[in-house]
Amino acid sequence: MVFSNNIGVRPLFDRVSCTYTYLVYDRETLDAVIIDPVRETFSRDLRVINQMGLKLSWCLETHVHADHITSAALFVKEFGVKIALGEKADVECRNAVQFSDNQFLEVTKDLKIRVITTPGHTICSVCFHVEDFLFTGDTLFVRGCGRTDFQMGSPRDLYESVHRKLYILNDETRVLPGHDYNGEMFSTIGEEKKFNPRLQESKGLEEFTEIMNHLNLPYPEKIDQALPANLRCGEEA
Ligand SMILES: [Fe+2]
Repeated sequence: MVFSNNIGVRPLFDRVSCTYTYLVYDRETLDAVIIDPVRETFSRDLRVINQMGLKLSWCLETHVHADHITSAALFVKEFGVKIALGEKADVECRNAVQFSDNQFLEVTKDLKIRVITTPGHTICSVCFHVEDFLFTGDTLFVRGCGRTDFQMGSPRDLYESVHRKLYILNDETRVLPGHDYNGEMFSTIGEEKKFNPRLQESKGLEEFTEIMNHLNLPYPEKIDQALPANLRCGEEA
């Protein structure tokens, strides 16, 4: 558990897709949102929400995922939550609300989440900023970043999103990524600016593009099932 003033963050992990899901809540009222939940871990997440006495009103998606199916639709069924996505997400979902750059999602007087549009990993990628927590999805990982070769991704967009919109934040801002494949949990903007091998502050766009265009990553295993399902926010067809 991590706290900043009146905001609590409870991280959860899916071992199969290496996805981080986060519960973010107002410690006084226990109003809560869940970020990037995974369908396979729905019952675990539900158990934690109930045990903590959280009142879940929103499910936030950092983007339309290609590697796992979201449990957003299950949370709509369970609690009638709304689903928050970036304005460029081409989804058809019940209860979806799309946010533009710098728009706030107000849950309570303390839990006000700023949406930062950060295209690059996908065209619809966003980060969520509350207190000194930054939920970066696949835009920025601890010492890495998401790939840019699918879903209208672009190395240039990702580079500019990170440098112009994330690296301007306070160095102490905590980076809570959408995935981790190396057993790390979170870092800070200051650390990433110094040590991220792809996105070190001193590295230019050309070098970054070169790296991203030569990753030689395999075709994402679950993309053909995950994308169509996630365009419905995980609702069964
Ligand atoms: Fe992704």
